[in-house]
Amino acid sequence: MAARRLSSLISLSSSSSLGRFSRWGRRISSFSTSAATDEPIINPSIQIDHTQLLINGQFVDAASGKTFPTLDPRTGDVIARVAEGDAEDINRAVAAARKAFDEGPWPKMTAYERSRIMLRFADLLEKHTEEVATLETWDNGKPFEQSAKIEIPMVVRMFRYYAGWADKIHGLTVPADGQHHVQTLHEPYGVAGLIIPWNFPLLLYSWKVAPALACGNTVVLKTAEQTPLSALYVSKLFHEAGLPPGVLNVVSGFGPTAGAALSSHMDVNKLSFTGSTATGKVVLGLAANSNLKPVTLELGGKSPFIVCKDADVDKAVDLAHSALFFNQGQCCCAGSRTLVHESLYDEFVEKAKVRALKRVVGDPFKTGIEQGPQIDKEQFQKILKYIRSGIESGATLESGGEQLGSKGYYIQPTVFSNVQDDMLIAKEEIFGPVQSISKFKDLNEAIQRANASSYGLAAGVFTQNLETANTLTRALRVGTVWINCYDIFDAAVPFGGFKTSGQGREKGIYGLSSYLQTKAVVTPLKNPAWL
Ligand code: NAI
Ligand code: MG
Repeated sequence: MAARRLSSLISLSSSSSLGRFSRWGRRISSFSTSAATDEPIINPSIQIDHTQLLINGQFVDAASGKTFPTLDPRTGDVIARVAEGDAEDINRAVAAARKAFDEGPWPKMTAYERSRIMLRFADLLEKHTEEVATLETWDNGKPFEQSAKIEIPMVVRMFRYYAGWADKIHGLTVPADGQHHVQTLHEPYGVAGLIIPWNFPLLLYSWKVAPALACGNTVVLKTAEQTPLSALYVSKLFHEAGLPPGVLNVVSGFGPTAGAALSSHMDVNKLSFTGSTATGKVVLGLAANSNLKPVTLELGGKSPFIVCKDADVDKAVDLAHSALFFNQGQCCCAGSRTLVHESLYDEFVEKAKVRALKRVVGDPFKTGIEQGPQIDKEQFQKILKYIRSGIESGATLESGGEQLGSKGYYIQPTVFSNVQDDMLIAKEEIFGPVQSISKFKDLNEAIQRANASSYGLAAGVFTQNLETANTLTRALRVGTVWINCYDIFDAAVPFGGFKTSGQGREKGIYGLSSYLQTKAVVTPLKNPAWL
């Protein structure tokens, strides 16, 4: 589709307008029910051109001919029907990726050429930001401004970042004992199977596809069944940028069918998965019981956000709010356990409640919207169930607690105080707009409670005391600690979990090691001058 400005992609059925990268618009003073109830929804008039599977550079139907609907979370209506990949399609995609790896040209190309294709793709993607952001918001429900101004630019940045690594991957010369010359080669695994979830469809595409390709692997990607559209669109652009056929194959479909077939495939050499801890365990088992392919897992979390006694309360309230509510609360690293020192607790709770009541919820295509609908009915019902359980177990409901409006999957920004550690809402991943606040007395207690979780993905620490920050940083058993900030996702910063939050790291230099294996090459030395 030719590049078109967003203003022409969106036909506005209300008087609000959505200009390109417009500033956050006017604020509404309590959660807005407008778009979730009576006002007509904004209809994106973008044409959905790609709904088939992308195998060997061609869009093709599923072998079975089956399709499934992808739904608009604002209404539950069908956006488009998409080809439903299954084991047979995974076989075809893996065969294409295998050929592209074994017979070239991808791993045989110079790394510089690979890097240039990735850079051209990043440029094309940047040019098509509005269309891609429109698809992402339509399929997922996240605010358009978040898609267009935050996420797609991060995807572009990620491809440029790893394009920069492609021609800087090299091994070592190793000083072994004895008369041997030893070198290490860092080689791609071969075919990488990548499985991504629906909460950040394109961002997580970039976290996996960019390093996998930069390292010279070929790829079969399975998207989440809730959000298949954006990956198909951008992968087409990747081919326009010069990507050879078979290097990147995209299969839409469900987990137990297409996802399981990819995880257990004998010809897939590496697997990288992002999603729930429960499915992560299944995928690891499938990998182990097939060809023992190495697996990177980025899984769930129940991340503590610790507000110490010397924190600036207003800043801490704002940050704790966004740490939890960002992306409708659908973040693996959501700051979902807000632990506040007792000296600030009452003030904090009151201000957190006021902030939640101000959160602007509504049609994600509208300017100024902070929160759209949850991804689907299943997640929506699951979140409401957790809210009921919070109320029943005796936590204090400070705000929200119910569906917002009458259609789609909108939930009121919800704040609980007096949350105890043994309540379900304090233990399990809710993955929704539900903040749980509890009180602590001293730092040791905060550390002990923060670590008393099977998860270990991230933590936020809010303090102005350097000693306190240093103590917490080292005591917390998590993969990322954000001090006086949260959700900083630079391409260069490694991300991943301790404990059941995952294995391995993505992004940065650490992300390369997931897609490279080390080969030692040993050669005898005859009469070396310096041995
Ligand atoms: P999920 O982990 O089941 O799905 C993630 C991906 O795995 C999807 O592409 C799915 O099709 C695939 N999958 C599912 N079963 C599979 C199998 N047997 N073999 C291979 N692939 C499989 O997550 P789901 O059901 O969408 O959400 C459930 C919960 O998981 C959420 O409520 C949330 O708590 C958590 N979650 C965590 C995410 C994260 O970023 N860490 C992302 C999405 C969900
Ligand atoms: Mg959808």
